[in-house]
Amino acid sequence: MGQVYIEELSQHEGQEVTIKGWVYNRRSSGKIHFILVRDGTGIVQGVMVKKEVSPEIFQLAKELTQESSIIVKGIVRSDERAPGGYELTLTHLELVQMAEEYPITPKEHGIEFLMDHRHLWLRSRRQHAILRIRSEIIKSIRDFFDDRGFVMVDAPLLTPAACEGTTTLFETDYFDEKAFLAQSGQLYMEAAAMACGKVYCFGPTFRAEKSKTRRHLMEFWMVEPEVAYADHEDNMRLQEDLVGYVVQRVLEKHRPELDVLERDISRLETVVPPFPRITYDEAIQRLQKAGVDIKWGADFGGGDETILAEQFDRPVFVEKYPVQVKAFYMKPDPERPEVVLCDDLLAPEGYGEIIGGSQRIDDLGLLKQRMQEHDLPDEVYAWYMDLRRYGSVPHSGFGLGLERTVAWICGLPHIRETIPFPRLINRLYP
Ligand code: 4AD
Ligand code: MG
Repeated sequence: MGQVYIEELSQHEGQEVTIKGWVYNRRSSGKIHFILVRDGTGIVQGVMVKKEVSPEIFQLAKELTQESSIIVKGIVRSDERAPGGYELTLTHLELVQMAEEYPITPKEHGIEFLMDHRHLWLRSRRQHAILRIRSEIIKSIRDFFDDRGFVMVDAPLLTPAACEGTTTLFETDYFDEKAFLAQSGQLYMEAAAMACGKVYCFGPTFRAEKSKTRRHLMEFWMVEPEVAYADHEDNMRLQEDLVGYVVQRVLEKHRPELDVLERDISRLETVVPPFPRITYDEAIQRLQKAGVDIKWGADFGGGDETILAEQFDRPVFVEKYPVQVKAFYMKPDPERPEVVLCDDLLAPEGYGEIIGGSQRIDDLGLLKQRMQEHDLPDEVYAWYMDLRRYGSVPHSGFGLGLERTVAWICGLPHIRETIPFPRLINRLYP
C-alpha cells in the first residue's frame, strides 16, 4: 500500500501501509520500541520488535528524537486498548530529518513559553484538536448560510471610517490619507443586502482593545450576515438557528477532539433553539437581585454577562439595550425610543457575548441625527447614507465572533488558544 493517513487505518486492517509523519513520543524496553507517530490526522502507536527488522533499523529507532520526521511501514492491527483502535506492527523505518532537541516536552511549560513557541505548540494533541474543531465551525457556518441562499460578499479590510466607535481603531497611512483596519464589515454588508437580499461576509476584523482579558483579541474573525426586509425578531431566529446548527455539527463530527479537550458534552447537548430571551430591563433586575451594583443605562461587563448566562442552560438573548450604550446605526424601538432593537447573545459557562446584532436605522433623517450625535464626519459616510435615499427598507444583521464561539464549544479557559496565531495586547510574535 502507498501512503495512508492515520484516520483511515480502519479501512486497512491486516494490510501493510506507509505512514508519513513525525515522532510524537518514543519509549523502549530492550527488545521492543514503541513509537508514537502523528501525521496530522491522528496518532498511532508503532511497535518495532528487534528480531523482525534489520539491526540498522532497530538502532535508528532507538536514536529517534521527539518530532523527527519519519516514514514508516507497518501492518495494521486492531487493538481495543489503542487510542483510535489500531496499532502498527512496524516493518520499516526511514528517517527524513533527525530533529534537534525539541523545546516543548511532555513536562509542563509556562504559558508565555508556549506562546513564544506557538509555531511548534500547534503540533500538540490539544492544539491540534482545537484547530480541527475551528475548521469545522468555519465550514458549518458557511454551509448554514450557503444552504439558505445567502450570497457571500467580501468586505474591505482597509476602510476610511469607523463602524464600532472610534476608540478601538487601528490607523495606518494610506498614501495621502488615513485608513483604518476594519472593525466590522457590517456597513458594507448593508449595501450588499440591498443588492442581493441575503448576504454575509466572513473575515478578519481588527480592534485595538486596550484592556487585557481572556475574551479579547486584536485580530479576530467575524461572520456578519445582513438581510433585507428582516426585522429584529427574524434576526434573533436566524441567530439561534445558526448557533444550534454549529454546535450540533461539532458534536456529530468531532467527538474524539472534544474528548481530547475533556469537554463536558452534556453542556453542549442542550444547545437547541429556541433560546431564552430577556430584555435589558430584566437583565438589570436580575443583576441587582444577584447583588451587583448596577443601574439602568449602564453597559454590562464580562462579569455581569457571566452572572446572567449562568441562570440558563443554553445561550440567552439580552435584547433592547438603552440607546446610549449601543452603536449609532441601531433602530430605536418604535414603542420605546429610549431602547434599540438589538440583541446580544450570551454563551453559557462564562464565555460572554458571542453575537451582537440589531435592526438598522432605515430613515435618513434619524440616521443623520445619530451621526451628528456621535461626531461622525458626513463625507466618509455619504455612501452609507445613500442606502437610505434609494429604496430604503427595514433590514437587520449580526456579527458572530468566531474565536469566542470556538472557546465556548471547546471549553477553553482563554481566547488565545482559539486562533492559530493570536494577536494580543503584548504579542505580535510569532
Ligand atoms: O458586538 P460587536 O462589536 O458587533 C459588531 O461589530 C456589529 N457590527 C456586527 C454586525 O451587526 N454585523 O461584535 C460582534 C462580535 C461580538 O459579539 C464578539 O463575539 C466578537 O464579535 N468580538 C470579539 N472577539 C474577539 N476579540 C474582540 N476584541 C472582539 N470584539 C468583538
Ligand atoms: Mg457587542
